[in-house]
Amino acid sequence: MRLGGIVVFVALCALSAYYIYEPIPDAIEEKWSLMLICCGFKTLSHVAYLSEFFGLKDFMDVLFIVTYMEKIVPVSDENVTVTVEKFDGVEVLLYQPKKQGGDAELRRAVIYIHGGGWCVGSSRMASYDVLTRMMVTELDAVILSIEYRLAPAHHFPIPYEDVYRVTKYFLQEGVLAQYSVDPGRVAVSGDSAGGNLAAAVSQQLQKESGQQIQLKAQALIYPALQALDLNTPSYQQNQYIMSILPRSLMVRFWSQYFSSNKALFRAMMANTHNNLETSGLLKFVNWSAFLPEKFHKNYNYSAPAVVELVGEEAVGMDSPSQSFADPRASPLLVPDSALRSLPKAYIITCEYDVLRDDGIMYATRLRAAGVEVTHDHYDEGVHGVIMFNIWPADFRIAHRMTAKYINWLKENV
Ligand SMILES: *[C@@H]1O[C@H](CO)[C@@H](O)[C@H](O)[C@H]1NC(C)=O
Ligand SMILES: *[C@@H]1O[C@H](CO)[C@@H](O)[C@H](O)[C@H]1NC(C)=O
Ligand SMILES: *[C@@H]1O[C@H](CO)[C@@H](O)[C@H](O)[C@H]1NC(C)=O
Repeated sequence: MRLGGIVVFVALCALSAYYIYEPIPDAIEEKWSLMLICCGFKTLSHVAYLSEFFGLKDFMDVLFIVTYMEKIVPVSDENVTVTVEKFDGVEVLLYQPKKQGGDAELRRAVIYIHGGGWCVGSSRMASYDVLTRMMVTELDAVILSIEYRLAPAHHFPIPYEDVYRVTKYFLQEGVLAQYSVDPGRVAVSGDSAGGNLAAAVSQQLQKESGQQIQLKAQALIYPALQALDLNTPSYQQNQYIMSILPRSLMVRFWSQYFSSNKALFRAMMANTHNNLETSGLLKFVNWSAFLPEKFHKNYNYSAPAVVELVGEEAVGMDSPSQSFADPRASPLLVPDSALRSLPKAYIITCEYDVLRDDGIMYATRLRAAGVEVTHDHYDEGVHGVIMFNIWPADFRIAHRMTAKYINWLKENV
């Protein structure tokens, strides 16, 4: 499957050679590899767009090819046992270390949530498999990788609820004991949309007084954390930059998470999707207040426009106006009092990423609320880069980022 995928990918790259004029920032190390990858993605996006335009297949169905290309069947090896389980009805890949001798020792565990804009991706992608195995052996940890259901077939809150149900199920004394996991050493983590879900579930569990076993830490890799202002400086700066996640794709992911109605997509593209209810929450994502000065550059803050949708535009939107402001979708939209008792956090942000400012703002707000935060910002980073860990997309930065990430988990979980 993987080899076939690579062939398709190379074909896409060749097809798209004429796109190669986009700027690649100097800070990026493997420029040519990135260029090829981005061309592949860009061509695929165009094909997806045209396919949807001509009514052949929906955009996301076409984009899903990337997931199929990378899909493997994770198997056990000499160090790691891999099984497929159902936790409260939701599929998870369970990676466990093979026992080295003694059995009295309880282990760490990390609940891992893959990225892909809530619409694509899978825990079975080869890059996640590589990352997960590394975590198992280096942390001597149990890792569960959640195969949550995806939008647009399953809109918000279903992807979130799948993640929540797995986490609740796992954090029971009996279940943890079954896998020799120390109840005091369970973390949640994820990249991109997975970071969004990890942050959301951390908030939710902390709110529940009946929840006996709590998460020890949250590790968020370039997370998406708010859907209110889709014009922060990082959205503006990286709008057209060579990236696997241009602004239009991120906005598409956000809108499809909530609704298949194109009116929401159009409103989000124009950053005019806020209404009178949600505008009161803009203060929680005010980048002018929460981004360090150097990230302001010459962008000037003006709050996103507030427009009341009327008539046809508002019809059939499944109340997405409520959904995108729901903290389970936009974890930045809670007051400080809801942040105060959250587990300590590790946050990775990349300079060349529309989601950069979401992560930075969360770091600022968590710190201000008294939460212990380690924030690693990569000046040479692009969105999605931690997954570029195997040939033919093998980036040095992915290995550096992974090493620091695992090291943080080692010291904090
Ligand atoms: C198993 O772990 C050992 C020691 O860390 C390592 O050298 C070996 O490559 C691992 N095996 C696999 C299949 O990853
Ligand atoms: C955002 O923060 C700036 C100060 O940094 C302030 O002047 C402005 O009123 C704030 N806007 C909102 C919507 O909170
Ligand atoms: C922001 O405001 C400053 C000062 O008024 C101005 O010089 C600059 O061009 C503005 N930047 C943008 C991106 O509009």
